[in-house]
Amino acid sequence: MHRIAVLPCDGIGPEVVAEGFKVLRVAADRYGVEYETVDYDLGGDRYLKTGEILPDSVLDEFRGMDAIYLGSVGHPDVQAGVLEKGLLLRLRFELDQYINLRPIKLYPGVETPLKDKGPEDIDFVVVRENTEDMYAGVGGFLRKGTPHEVAVQEAVYTRMGTERCIRYAFEIAKTRDRKKLTMVDKSNVLTFGHDLWVRTFAEVGEEYPDVEQDHAYVDACCMWMVKNPEWFDVVVTTNMFGDIITDLGAMIQGGMGVAASGNINPEGVSMFEPIHGSAPKYTGKNVICPVAAIAAAGMMMEHLGEVECGKAIEAAVIKALGSGKLGDLSTRSGVSTTEAGDLVASLVE
Ligand code: IPM
Ligand code: MN
Repeated sequence: MHRIAVLPCDGIGPEVVAEGFKVLRVAADRYGVEYETVDYDLGGDRYLKTGEILPDSVLDEFRGMDAIYLGSVGHPDVQAGVLEKGLLLRLRFELDQYINLRPIKLYPGVETPLKDKGPEDIDFVVVRENTEDMYAGVGGFLRKGTPHEVAVQEAVYTRMGTERCIRYAFEIAKTRDRKKLTMVDKSNVLTFGHDLWVRTFAEVGEEYPDVEQDHAYVDACCMWMVKNPEWFDVVVTTNMFGDIITDLGAMIQGGMGVAASGNINPEGVSMFEPIHGSAPKYTGKNVICPVAAIAAAGMMMEHLGEVECGKAIEAAVIKALGSGKLGDLSTRSGVSTTEAGDLVASLVE
């Protein structure tokens, strides 16, 4: 019995989470997977009502769960950063979910803005470090609000955090057909932090002679992702660069409507979410494509060891996308959130 904490949170989060469970329920029944869910009312509305973001007692409950399934975080009436740092990033940090795993896969039937590129060209996975870098929240102000104001925002890299991320990426690369790992950094400018990444990559890489090792500066990586996405198999990168290149990745795989992710602690509790945000202006309109959230539920099942169930969810997603019945996956596709969920659920085999 898997115990899953559910955090629908803000904006369109609850709508896509509902479709995720619509599909998960069917797949779980079919493959004899048992799970129970515990719903948590966290997010912007709760914060505005009670001032609470993530009570310590709730965080402790999460430590006892098998997985967390999250919709989206971000509320138009709450200052940017409050919920992001207080809820989403706090969960990632406190639960030490040190990997943010983001597959960039163009499924057949999905349109990519890249001319002359198809599913055989766009199939890689980004391993984003998820607990350090500029996200560590180290910094401060001096003389705030004065003309002599100084703001410092540090990027923090530890040998331990760098090494465990790079090793995880090598382990994934080892299991893939192409066995190629590209490290993306800016070591030509960030000559301290990213020097640590370069040295760690070389050292850990010695343990993986069967994995082809490549390197790209992050700016060039953005160019190659558009020009030659077929070069990438597994990409490992820092937290901030991983954030940025995976939005680009989402676009080349067909948009935010399909991009799923897992915040992984291989030894602890992991959290699965679509990478799109809360899209407040579409709240309650039943127009957001739920495929990313559904695919995240599939990733969660695989992570929990329910590989058949997870693969069945992915297969249903692939069939739904290939059917052409989901339109262009945008808010103007003419296909509602609930209809899209119904379709995917009906295709689970
Ligand atoms: C993401 C998001 C978050 C991030 C925000 C909401 C804090 O953009 O999951 O990519 O920057 O990691
Ligand atoms: Mn992001």
